[in-house]
Amino acid sequence: MDAAFHSDLASTRIGILGLGYVGLPLAVEFGKRYQTIGFDINAARVAELRAGRDSSLEVEPDELRTASRLEYADAIESLADCHVLIVTVPTPINAHKQPDFGPLESASRAIGSILKPGRIVVFESTVYPGATEEVCIPIIERLSGLTYNRDFYAGYSPERINPGDKAHRLTTIKKVTSGSTPEVARFIDALYGSIITAGTHLASSIRVAEAAKVIENTQRDLNIALINELALIFNRLGLDTLEVLEAAGTKWNFLPFRPGLVGGHCIGVDPYYLTHKAQEIGYHPEVILAGRRVNDGMGAYVAGEVIKLMVRRGGLTQNSRVLLLGLTFKENCPDLRNTRVVDILAELQDYGLSCDVHDPWANPAEAEHEYGLKLVQQPEHGAYDAIILAVAHREFADWGAERIRAFGKPGAILYDVKQLLPRDAVDGRL
Ligand SMILES: NC(=O)c1ccc[n+]([C@@H]2O[C@H](COP(=O)([O-])OP(=O)(O)OC[C@H]3O[C@@H](n4cnc5c(N)ncnc54)[C@H](O)[C@@H]3O)[C@@H](O)[C@H]2O)c1
Repeated sequence: MDAAFHSDLASTRIGILGLGYVGLPLAVEFGKRYQTIGFDINAARVAELRAGRDSSLEVEPDELRTASRLEYADAIESLADCHVLIVTVPTPINAHKQPDFGPLESASRAIGSILKPGRIVVFESTVYPGATEEVCIPIIERLSGLTYNRDFYAGYSPERINPGDKAHRLTTIKKVTSGSTPEVARFIDALYGSIITAGTHLASSIRVAEAAKVIENTQRDLNIALINELALIFNRLGLDTLEVLEAAGTKWNFLPFRPGLVGGHCIGVDPYYLTHKAQEIGYHPEVILAGRRVNDGMGAYVAGEVIKLMVRRGGLTQNSRVLLLGLTFKENCPDLRNTRVVDILAELQDYGLSCDVHDPWANPAEAEHEYGLKLVQQPEHGAYDAIILAVAHREFADWGAERIRAFGKPGAILYDVKQLLPRDAVDGRL
């Protein structure tokens, strides 16, 4: 006989594995209503959360305190009595741009070691269609000795938050849900529906929900790739891309994308999960991978443009110094993962240029640990031959062109990757 799952919403105990950008806000929302235990393998992360501090800056200390039923744990055994286990661990790619299932596999092993009959395991991490049931469930079955859809159940509910975005929050973004049986799917949908004010969309299967998430980011990646390619063409034609986009954008159905670096661990990474699966089943994606190549080449392109401007101005020597403003993968957010600003840096350093990087949002220790980079806390005045505005942090917008130019020598190049400053205040922009 099938093991009955716990179906009384109000008394549901929830365990969350992974307290990062996705897991913490989720734990906080559930922790306002349900008994919730947030678990992370990173003991330092658990310690800071216990002390009421979130270094990802996604949840303010006041809000952390409102989650009165949320506890933190650094041992998986603490989740043994939870009815629903939600997995929000990273899904990165390896050096060959193939999915790295390490964190998901280890979370699945941890769940398998504590799982009891009747439990529901919900995955939120971004994957390709089929990954939950092909990669994670067999591990859980093997370690727990329980049988899927007889002794325990699963679901998939992808997260759509946008780090640093204070307008689109977990509860105000419609959430896709799914479950491994119709009854489990309805329960999972009701559970999320109780915290998501924007409502839920119950997908017909786990695979549909997985596919929906991965194509959202693939679509965004490709839309930006098209605009990046247009920027490469317009720059050669001597046209300002933003001016063209603003003109085209007056048509009702022209999509408002802007050129730029595509970093972070979602948009530049998730399409590789889909292309990996496509190749596994014998289809070689062309459009998706072409977009990835264009986007991955933008850092080197920006560096080349800056070098050209410096050569033309006669300001390029062995001792030339460049200041990069911004390192994080996006504006007003401390997230350094997979930032493509490092591509600009690597290309400039390849030319032998000495570069300083300043970022008021980035954690200096993390920058050093991840990229071997010592951030400059206060750039020197009048010291640089070129300044690249790489990330549109609000501090840089507040400074404006004049204060930014003051870091440069007379006649220094100012290049604006993010079209943050007025066109006539800079020497070049993407
Ligand atoms: N950050 C976003 O904007 C975003 C948005 C939508 C979806 N996603 C997806 O959500 C997933 C998580 O992303 P994130 O940004 O929250 O990652 P993150 O790196 O911020 O957090 C992941 C956390 O999981 C912990 N962890 C790793 N392995 C673990 C394990 N075996 N058991 C318990 N904890 C473990 C890490 O220590 C870390 O604290 C990824 O699949 C990502 O693609 C992220």
